[in-house]
This record gives sequence, C-alpha cells and structure tokens, in this order.
Amino acid sequence: MSMTLKKRIRVLLHRATIAIGVDTRKLRPDRQLLERTIFAQLQRDPAYQCILFVGCDWYTLHYPSLFKTKRFVTLELRPECAKFGAKEHIIDSCTNVTAHFEANSLDCVVFNGVFGFGLDDPSAIERTLAGIHESLRLGGLLIFGWNDLPDTVPLPLDDIVALRDLTPCTFGDLPSVVHSSEVNRHRFHFYTKENR
Ligand SMILES: C[S@@+](CC[C@H](N)C(=O)[O-])C[C@H]1O[C@@H](n2cnc3c(N)ncnc32)[C@H](O)[C@@H]1O
Repeated sequence: MSMTLKKRIRVLLHRATIAIGVDTRKLRPDRQLLERTIFAQLQRDPAYQCILFVGCDWYTLHYPSLFKTKRFVTLELRPECAKFGAKEHIIDSCTNVTAHFEANSLDCVVFNGVFGFGLDDPSAIERTLAGIHESLRLGGLLIFGWNDLPDTVPLPLDDIVALRDLTPCTFGDLPSVVHSSEVNRHRFHFYTKENR
C-alpha cells in the first residue's frame, strides 16, 4: 500500500473515530501533556477566549472542536493542510501574524512544533516572535513547544532577541519550562506579555 493511501486511511479513521470520542492515535508524552493538561487548563480559564494555534496537520484536526466555547483560529503555511484547520483558518506564514491580528488582541498563542519544523531561518523566527508579542494582549500567554534535538534547533532559545520581550511564567500547576518527553526531548515554555 502506498504511503499516501496509508495516510489517507489514517486521517479518515481519525476523523471518524475522534467524532465519537475514540482516539486511535498513539500519543507521545508531550502530546498527552498538550492535549490533556495544557488544553484542559486553557479550556477552563475564562481569561483565554481568543486563541491562535499555529501549524496544523491531520492529528490536530479535532483541536477546534475542543475549544467550541472560544474563538479558536488556526494558521498554517501549507494550503493543503487547511482542511485540518478551524472554521477560522489562515493560510500564511506565521512571520506575517501581525497582518491578521490587531496589536494586543490575542489571549493566547499555541506555537508548538513549528520552531525547527519549517520555521528555521533566524530572521523569520525573530519576525514571528516579535509579531506574536505584538499580537498578544498584556497578560496574554505564549505556549512555545519545541524539540531540544540538534537537527530541530535552528538557534539557541537564548539567542532569540524577540523572546526577551516576553516574561517566563507558570501556567496552572505547570512550571515555566516543562521537559515533557525525553523521547524527542520536547519542551514547553510558557511566556506572558508584560510590556507593550
Ligand atoms: C510538526 S508540525 C506541528 C503541528 C502542530 N502545531 C502541532 O502542535 O502538532 C509543523 C507544522 O508547522 C507548519 N509550519 C512550518 N513553518 C511555518 C510557518 N512559517 N508558518 C506557518 N506554519 C508553518 C508546517 O507546515 C507544519 O504543518
């Protein structure tokens, strides 16, 4: 069976089963943390009404349905992945985030698995994070997930100038940095916007 056909079947199966509450995916610990702990905290906290989720793929297709009571917007570079996005979906690069959102308008940006997964150019990384900073409201939250592996770290986090405008923070019961999986060395960092 070809890979494309296998993937199509997997996507169809996921779409059909998740709709009835059955999850056939094998979840790594970082994905479990994202979906079961981080999302649960975001869902119940009324401070987060307008959420931007960056980067979509087949395994994120049900995420919008988890946030029915919120404004959940997705943004993804690849047009063919729009079918995995929310009703409010943007086809563009995250480097252009300020073209789509007013300054100080977002309560939360989920930026997971994009740094080092297509967003690799240092100036594009700076532009994206500066744009996220501008788009977040004061007290807004950035959830930054990445893999601390040599081939998925385009530059050290400490070297990202735009990140210095954001303040590390805790989120619910979670500390500001969580080492969520040693399989792929996935890390979640939480930041808040304290200055305009
Ligand atoms: C590893 S997947 C992560 C998907 C999702 N964010 C998650 O949590 O699983 C990386 C995704 O980021 C997208 N991506 C890469 N560079 C991007 C950019 N500059 N702007 C928007 N999306 C981008 C890729 O097309 C891909 O779908």
